Amino acid sequence: MPPAPLPVILDVDTGVDDACALLLAARHPALDLRAVTCVAGNAPLDLVVANTLTVLDVAGRHEVPVAAGAGRPLLEDPADARHVHGRDGMGDLGRPRSARVPQPVHAVELLRSQLMAAARTGEPITLIPLAPLTNIALLLRTYPAVAQGISRVLFMGGSASTGNATASAEFNVFHDPEAAAIVLDACAALGVPVTMYGLDVFYEPQVTAAQAGELIAADPAGPAGLAGELIAYQCARFESQSATIGDAGAVCAAIAPGGIVTRTLPVRVELSGRHTRGRTVVDQRDPLTHDPHGRPDAVVDVAVDVDGAAFSRLWLDTVGFHTVGGGC
Ligand code: RIB
Ligand code: CA
Repeated sequence: MPPAPLPVILDVDTGVDDACALLLAARHPALDLRAVTCVAGNAPLDLVVANTLTVLDVAGRHEVPVAAGAGRPLLEDPADARHVHGRDGMGDLGRPRSARVPQPVHAVELLRSQLMAAARTGEPITLIPLAPLTNIALLLRTYPAVAQGISRVLFMGGSASTGNATASAEFNVFHDPEAAAIVLDACAALGVPVTMYGLDVFYEPQVTAAQAGELIAADPAGPAGLAGELIAYQCARFESQSATIGDAGAVCAAIAPGGIVTRTLPVRVELSGRHTRGRTVVDQRDPLTHDPHGRPDAVVDVAVDVDGAAFSRLWLDTVGFHTVGGGC
């Protein structure tokens, strides 16, 4: 008998590659997608919610509860990334808007109810934030008891090397550094394991423009077609023959943890440097014998390598119903 599907919740700022992640989580039989929560990030919150509902509609997952959360970072001014993700935040693909509305509760309340229910049934949930960590910081500080219902936080964010929003910082952490610092601190205090799927692996799983074309041809109006359009948008935007599946790689890591290599390392979030604010300072000294700042509380499983070809294939097979051939 196959193992029971892994219960997961995604926290998203949909977002072209968040949409790739949602399609995978919505359609893979090894996952039980319990809820999706939304936060401002790649686009303002109203667009993030609309995009998220659209993707779930296309994926045929109308029953998955969606809630809107924080409309801005804790301290930073809001600054979206529509210069990358399009005016509507999801590639301006012209897909029909969902008729569905989000749950009439804040994302933090939807997370709390789902996680406390999971704690009661003894079936903890893998929480997969793919966005600025504002909702998750508010959750863990407001309702620390939810930790009993979380098996792991597997987040897309940060970098042990270079950034993308700045030379130092990855977008999700740069957008709300205080939230990221709070989440790492709270997880350490509450004993919640954390995996960081950061920029060190983010760009590795690639899908070609030709494969995107096959997806679109296979099922233009359905999930495969949307998946293909998302990749094609990125290829055009970056004038490239392939594009990363981005946030979807973190979902792949939940489905196939053997596809990433992790190192368990201390991580701090830089909160003050003018040019380094939002950097995840990953301490790779070996041996680490002394630090004048003291040892950081947060020790994180940092993804340092990924089987990009395997993750691309996993994504293509799931969103494309095994219709797409070729490699990258
Ligand atoms: O920095 C990578 C992040 O920014 C991802 O979450 C993705 O959505 C991108 O826009
Ligand atoms: Ca994202």
